[in-house]
Amino acid sequence: MLILGIETSCDETAAAVVQDGKKILSSIVSSQIEVHSPYGGVVPELASRKHMEDIVPVVEDALEKSAITNKQIDAVASTRGPGLVGSLLVGFSFAKAYAYALNVPWIGVNHLEGHIHSVFLENNPPDFPFVVLLASGGHTNIYYATTFTEFEQMGQTRDDAAGEAFDKVAKMLELGYPGGGVIDKLAKQGDPIAVSFPRPFLDKSGFDFSFSGIKTSVNRYLQKNKDTYKNHIPDIVAGFQEAVVEVLSYKIVNAAKTRNCKHIALVGGVAANSRLREKVTQEAEAQGISIHIPSIDLCGDNAAMIASVGYHYLKRNEQSDLDADVFSRTK
Ligand code: KG4
Ligand code: ZN
Repeated sequence: MLILGIETSCDETAAAVVQDGKKILSSIVSSQIEVHSPYGGVVPELASRKHMEDIVPVVEDALEKSAITNKQIDAVASTRGPGLVGSLLVGFSFAKAYAYALNVPWIGVNHLEGHIHSVFLENNPPDFPFVVLLASGGHTNIYYATTFTEFEQMGQTRDDAAGEAFDKVAKMLELGYPGGGVIDKLAKQGDPIAVSFPRPFLDKSGFDFSFSGIKTSVNRYLQKNKDTYKNHIPDIVAGFQEAVVEVLSYKIVNAAKTRNCKHIALVGGVAANSRLREKVTQEAEAQGISIHIPSIDLCGDNAAMIASVGYHYLKRNEQSDLDADVFSRTK
């Protein structure tokens, strides 16, 4: 079964062709970083306009690279939410119209389920059940996954998402947007114990997160050391990153232990973080737990993960109505 996936929830216009929910025939991601970086964050109105410009060429490119024609597509899957409404509507309306014109089923997909599915596109997917940490720009959630379509939420952030904390700290230090990748690189030159920031574990046995306190304490440190902090920015970001990574890895490994689960997956934009990948791998392996992390390309927003979700819904004979609407937040 060939599914055309479409993703436009935030600042990437993406399209992909995926076979049987598993084999990526093509995956095109057109980033809008250049549009938004002068503003230090995503400007929703500019994002929607750019999606409008890019959606047709990106879909055409995905079809061409997959070496199939649109007549061979069995279904179209598109992100329904959560995300920016104006951005979602571009991909969503395009997908509905395209499916209608091709006379094939159409499936609206939850973006977060999409991220979880990024591990199923890799060669070594986890066995069920597994626990998964989804850390992105808008979410930090832990789930217990029992099937391709059933994910029990065990924990979430009570304030900022992990990726949001990276972006905000990068903004304070004027390192550019998005901040995660820049901090990851710069932290390699710093000493993670030179400047220490708090580890907000909240209830140590629970699975909720809170990252706004770390961000505030970085801000306080910068205020207090106004005249000198510019001389040791790598140490500051390494200390910040270490605090976030320590909390994330502790919670996900503990979630696996609590559920007696032998597999952990790490997904979402923050799963691209090299220190997080290293630390969770070390800690999971020390406990005899296998760790599954997608390649960097599949950690960030992409449409292959959306096509994979679409495939599994379709296999269960579930598809969406043409009058379905987008949603901005998870209920
Ligand atoms: O999943 P994603 O591409 O989009 C959302 O659904 O939000 O995640 C984007 C987030 C941004 O906050 C970005 O700063 C963060 O992922 N990110 C990283 C890294 N690469 C991207 N955070 C830490 N380290 C990285 N290497
Ligand atoms: Zn995402």
